[in-house]
Amino acid sequence: MNDTNQTWLITGSSIGRALAEQYASAPEVGQVIYTWRSKEPTFGSPKVKPLQVDLTSELDIENLVGNLDKLDGIINATGFLHDEKHKPEKAIARFTPEGLVRSIELNTLPTALLAKHARKLLKASPSSTFATISAKVGSIEDNRLGGWYSYRASKAALNMMLKTLAIEWRIALPHCSVAALHPGTVESPLSRPFTGRHHNVMTPEESAGHLKQILDGLNPDKTGRFWSWDGSELPW
Ligand SMILES: NC(=O)c1ccc[n+]([C@@H]2O[C@H](COP(=O)([O-])OP(=O)(O)OC[C@H]3O[C@@H](n4cnc5c(N)ncnc54)[C@H](OP(=O)(O)O)[C@@H]3O)[C@@H](O)[C@H]2O)c1
Repeated sequence: MNDTNQTWLITGSSIGRALAEQYASAPEVGQVIYTWRSKEPTFGSPKVKPLQVDLTSELDIENLVGNLDKLDGIINATGFLHDEKHKPEKAIARFTPEGLVRSIELNTLPTALLAKHARKLLKASPSSTFATISAKVGSIEDNRLGGWYSYRASKAALNMMLKTLAIEWRIALPHCSVAALHPGTVESPLSRPFTGRHHNVMTPEESAGHLKQILDGLNPDKTGRFWSWDGSELPW
């Protein structure tokens, strides 16, 4: 991108916040619009504008994009794996309708709404990026361990959204690169109960650094792909 006054929209409290810090310190970025849901963060950089948004609300997203003329990039780093009521299911006997609906609502829906409403803003940029943090466990081909039905299914649905969007936008927004990203295993409230067995748990800052490197290297010839944090490509 040659633009020296880029505007990025970034969401999500751990990896997303680290991405917002890193984009705010990039010289080509003039503003980062950062959305939060439950806890207002503070940022060192005056380039970051935090806004409270519920990304499952179409009205909230319409209001968010309504005041903007152009976006050069969107990175949605929100998601859901567990709460007090819902845990990832080790076996189908643990599956609940509410768990699946909640997973789809928080892992799949926000990206669809962002794409629908921010399309014209990305079109106004000479070179734009539309990325969402998915998860390797959303890959159908890579599924060897099983389990986590609702999370896997909602991330697989998210991946299908992104792949389908890339096909539509290859014609409609030929300057936009669409990407699904796997951030690696990263320390965060979402992953905390499950990282015990992992040796290489990254900080959100480390993961964000890797993801930014991937996004910096994107171009429309690479649209519609699923990238792992280390730069390798994952099967859908
Ligand atoms: N951490 C890992 O090891 C790992 C591995 C693979 C994939 N991922 C993916 O990476 C992404 C980021 O996760 P993370 O690890 O950075 O965890 P995180 O800090 O817990 O981030 C999840 C975010 O989603 C937000 N959120 C949930 N529902 C929302 C809604 N309706 N509107 C707006 N925001 C909402 C949460 O907001 P609140 O803070 O207000 O709850 C939180 O900011 C997720 O998509 C996750 O599936 C993470």
